[in-house]
Amino acid sequence: MPTPLIAPSLLSADFARLAEEAEAVRGADWLHVDVMDNHFVPNLTVGLPVVQALRRATDLPLDCHLMIDNPDRWASGFAEAGARNVTVHAEAAADAAELARTLRAAGALAGLAIKPGTPLEPYLELLQGYDTLLVMTVEPGFGGQEFRAEVLPKVREARRRVESGHLRLFIEVDGGVNADTIVQAAEAGADVFVAGSAVYGADDPAAAVEALRERARAFSG
Ligand code: DX5
Ligand code: ZN
Repeated sequence: MPTPLIAPSLLSADFARLAEEAEAVRGADWLHVDVMDNHFVPNLTVGLPVVQALRRATDLPLDCHLMIDNPDRWASGFAEAGARNVTVHAEAAADAAELARTLRAAGALAGLAIKPGTPLEPYLELLQGYDTLLVMTVEPGFGGQEFRAEVLPKVREARRRVESGHLRLFIEVDGGVNADTIVQAAEAGADVFVAGSAVYGADDPAAAVEALRERARAFSG
């Protein structure tokens, strides 16, 4: 199993102090930025100008999760802004294969996200052009929801495909990840763990990141 990566989600941070909140988790692997447009999900967060400012404010690799309609039009800007990984939703992309090529050409890893109710099967071939699969473990839109273990068979299946050499992917889980649920996700084969409230709701966010990493490491396949 690959080394687990921990990606704190700024959605649970103080939006008036984003640079300090990034600094508070400097031992993390990726910094997860939830971009929401109030169309694809019923919530509105930050957009490209904030990601550009964050890029200047931190050395942490930015993991941009675009919960937006028409990512075909908007996603490349985040890659050009210097994001390490840009994830678009399979349910929103018109031409996901072309989008992956565009993101990679702009220097980012290309990520494809699927909501809890979206099956993995129809996207398996398409994922050959991607670097990251994000399996949502809550309905996208809000932090602080309960982890949905029933989606873990998709993580297991993706891990099987990676192990057999059919796919090369980071397998990321997002939503409801905490010190308990990270164990189930790691056992299922995830290797990137997004955590919002479990990190920024803790008294010591840096220690919370370390604790999550230790738990994931101990229980990885
Ligand atoms: C939800 C976002 C998540 C969110 C997770 O739509 O994609 O990244 O920040 O928050 P927690 O870890 O609190 O469930
Ligand atoms: Zn997210």
